[in-house]
Order: sequence, then C-alpha cells, then structure tokens
Amino acid sequence: MQYELAPMEGITGYIYRNAYVRYFGGAERYFTPFIASTGLNHKERSDVLPEHNQAFLLGESGQLPLTEGSGRQQEKLLPRLVPQILTNRAEDFLTIADRLRQMGYTHVNLNLGCPSGTVVSRGRGAGFLKELRQLTLFLEEIFERCPLHISIKTRIGVTDAGEWEELLHIYARYPVEELIIHPRVQQDYYQQPIRWEGMELALECWERTGCAIPLCYNGEIHTLADYQALRRRFPQVERVMLGRGVLKNPFLIQQLRQWETGKAEPEEPMPPERRQEILQAFHQELLTGYREIMSGDQNTLFKMKELWTYFGESFPGKEKQLKRIRKAGSMAQYESAVREIFG
Ligand SMILES: Cc1cc2nc3c(=O)[nH]c(=O)nc-3n(C[C@H](O)[C@H](O)[C@H](O)COP(=O)(O)O)c2cc1C
Repeated sequence: MQYELAPMEGITGYIYRNAYVRYFGGAERYFTPFIASTGLNHKERSDVLPEHNQAFLLGESGQLPLTEGSGRQQEKLLPRLVPQILTNRAEDFLTIADRLRQMGYTHVNLNLGCPSGTVVSRGRGAGFLKELRQLTLFLEEIFERCPLHISIKTRIGVTDAGEWEELLHIYARYPVEELIIHPRVQQDYYQQPIRWEGMELALECWERTGCAIPLCYNGEIHTLADYQALRRRFPQVERVMLGRGVLKNPFLIQQLRQWETGKAEPEEPMPPERRQEILQAFHQELLTGYREIMSGDQNTLFKMKELWTYFGESFPGKEKQLKRIRKAGSMAQYESAVREIFG
C-alpha cells in the first residue's frame, strides 16, 4: 500500500511536513497546499523552496538538495514532495510548473477538488468540473506542453454523481501520473457522506477499459477501523491519501502499515510514555518553527489553535486542558495549558 499525505492549506506547510517526517514519517508522498499565483507569492515560494524541504528533496545520489539558481545541472529528485497547482488557465499552470521545475521538482498535482465558494466561483478547483469543454482544452494543453509528471486530485462532479463517468473518460485520455479521487461532489463540501459508488465506478471503468492510470482513494479515513472497511470494500486499491486522520492522530500511517505488514505477527504496541514523548517533541518543533517564521505570538497562537482542533483528538480525557488551549490569550497561557496536557 502506498500512503500519501493530503495537501491541507494553512496546516501542511513545510514546518508541519518537516516535523511530521522527523517524528512519524511513513508516507510515500507528501503534497503541498495549493499554489495559485503565477509569480509564487512569498508564502507559496517559501513552502516549496528546496532548502525548506531537505527531507524530501534529497537527490538519488543522497546529496543535499539543490538551491534555486545554483546553476548546477538538475539531478533527478525523488518525487516524494509534490507541489499542487490551482488554476483553470493552461498558461498559468505552465508558468508555475516551470518555476517548480527550475527548483528541481519532477512532478506537480492539479487541484480539481477544492469546494470552497471563492475558488469555485472563479471556475477553479471543483468549479472547473462543470466546464468540460474548457477542462478538456486545458488538459490537452498542459499534457502536451508540461515536461513534468502531472497527477490530478479530483472530486466526482459538481452537483451530481451522474457527472462522474464522463469526467473519468476525459481523464483516461491523458498520461495522468496518478488520479486521486475524493468521492464527493463539490456541493457535498466535507460534510456529506462519501459516495462510495464514485470509487466503484472508477475501478469498474478502469477494469473495463484497461486504463493504467494509478488510482488513489481519499476521504474520511480517520482510524484503523475506517481503513479496514476501505480495504474490505476495495481490496484492489493500492494507494490511499490521508488528511485529517493524520492531523488527529499522527501515528495513523504507522498503525495502518503495521496492520498491513503485521497481519501475521502483530508488533508490540508502543508504551504510552513513549507515545507521549514523541507527541510532545513534535508539538515543540511545530511551535518553535511557527514562532520563527510568524510575526508575533498572536499569529502563532492562531496557527497552533487551528492545529489543536485536530491534534486534540490524540488526547482523550483532556477536555479541560484542551479548552484552556482554545481560550489561551497569550503565549504564556498557551504554554502552561500545553504543559498540563503533556503533564
Ligand atoms: C484545512 C484543510 C485544507 C485543505 N487544503 C487543501 C488544498 O490545499 N488542496 C487540496 O487539494 N485539498 C485540500 N484539502 C482537502 C484535503 O486534501 C482532503 O482531500 C480532504 O480533507 C479529505 O480527506 P480526509 O477526509 O482524509 O481529510 C483541505 C482540507 C482541509 C480540512
């Protein structure tokens, strides 16, 4: 099984990814939150700079990564980190991809899944799925002209799962490196139940037509039990992208892999104190990293509190302390609440 860490805007930036890899790791691929501006704004550029992504961009020779503009011949870099692009203009896609190529990236991902109103109203993300003619022209052009591998992350339609089959036939025409399917329509946002029939149809269609594009499932895998249910339902799926499940429980991928490999001989569970130590060190690295790059404690607090809305689930029974974190008005209050959690 190949595990992939989902792109999550505002959370899985390089500070999170580096800390995650250091303390948990285990995913074969990591996706950056989307890049939408052709000039790469400060935040976007900072997120993909090779020097901020050393853990991902080691060359095959094991050498340290290239820095932008170093003038050295680009090595073929391990495609473990995949920058994501959000646009509906082929020219813009190609411009962003070219900047990424110059930094050493070999693979980019196209966002056709973002359901947010502001993105959709501009015909981007999942909003692009209703303009099939433009979408086809766009794909035609980027697959013709972009020298990088292109994977696609998609929903199964805008309003109705009936849109999906035609979309699948469109994708199947191109050399898509990987098709990541979040089986919801745009109007489901993140609340409505997963439409399992979307994944079924893709698998069926691929079998019928002999399409070789690798499929990756994404959506609502929060626990080992969710994963086991997915494996029972779709034993042929070989790639899974995980998002909020990992934010809530950073050990999740380790657990899933252990279940896969240890079906025969389960490994010993990790002692709770060791678990706690790792979570604490991970948290500390995030806090230090954000303090270094964010202006002012209030911004850092905001960032950390957003993370805790997920991460808090790793601390059952600590509701009182979690509330103190939510209410913390200063860094001192925050750190005191966190100390209580790790107690
Ligand atoms: C806070 C947040 C930010 C997200 N940002 C992105 C993004 O930048 N690009 C993208 O393709 N999907 C984004 N997503 C969607 C996730 O990648 C993923 O598809 C979704 O959360 C469903 O997977 P999950 O149920 O495993 O979390 C975001 C989701 C969340 C919750």
